[in-house]
Amino acid sequence: MSKRLDRWLQAKKQGEKQVLVTAYDYTFAQLADQAGIDGVLVGDSLGMVVQGHAHTLGVRLEQICYHTEMVARALQNALLFADLPLGSYEESPEQCWRSATALLRAGAEVIKWEGGLEFLEHLRFCAARGLNVCVHLGLTPQRLRQWGRFQRQGVDAKDASRLESEALTLAEAGARFLLLEAVPAALAERITRQSPIPVIGIGAGPHTDAQVLVLHDVLGLSDPPPPFAQSFVDGKGLLGTALRDYAHAVRAGTFPQGRQTP
Ligand code: KIV
Repeated sequence: MSKRLDRWLQAKKQGEKQVLVTAYDYTFAQLADQAGIDGVLVGDSLGMVVQGHAHTLGVRLEQICYHTEMVARALQNALLFADLPLGSYEESPEQCWRSATALLRAGAEVIKWEGGLEFLEHLRFCAARGLNVCVHLGLTPQRLRQWGRFQRQGVDAKDASRLESEALTLAEAGARFLLLEAVPAALAERITRQSPIPVIGIGAGPHTDAQVLVLHDVLGLSDPPPPFAQSFVDGKGLLGTALRDYAHAVRAGTFPQGRQTP
């Protein structure tokens, strides 16, 4: 087991919160790493925040590989997670393994996919071959076409107890991480308390072992950010001002100045 992975498992035992953020390129991955973020996820959210689509459904495996390679070059300490996009893993355990190994070759250390018990055989097959798997449960954006809209999961008692037993079965079957998206805080707390593996939350309340956010939400670059996210800086305002100042300086003839010319 890698030192970085072991740090996450020790943190769970010691009750220390871990922090994960998405990143898609070298510069921002390096910023996250140097800021002491514990894990970086190359998420298929890149379909929205990098490619400009309204959803993640069109993201292709080779695109995640491309971004994973950039991010891998930047990380010194953070654990590198990467997403299997829609269509790259569902067919069979073998397809899942092939796609996962493409991401490993690109530098990923943990492979995340959306879905639970329907991929139990995929999980067993991949875990038996040493793959570190993060299972994404609750709201899984790749199901958008099935659901018609994004909706919170595990809200009624029956669905909550299904999710709870699913999470624990997946942990027993060899998953290394669980990621819970948009589920009630009380449910996420119950799962986290019972789970032997780290539970990462997004829109799942404060009790999970770790939190993840999309980088563009953290930096105030999303329009609008989801209700459960928080911006920690007004990135749009700040960067917009810098770009306007640059344009103004060129137009006013104050940039470039003589001393800036080689
Ligand atoms: O694709 C992604 O960025 C994700 C996170 C929102 C968890 O799956």
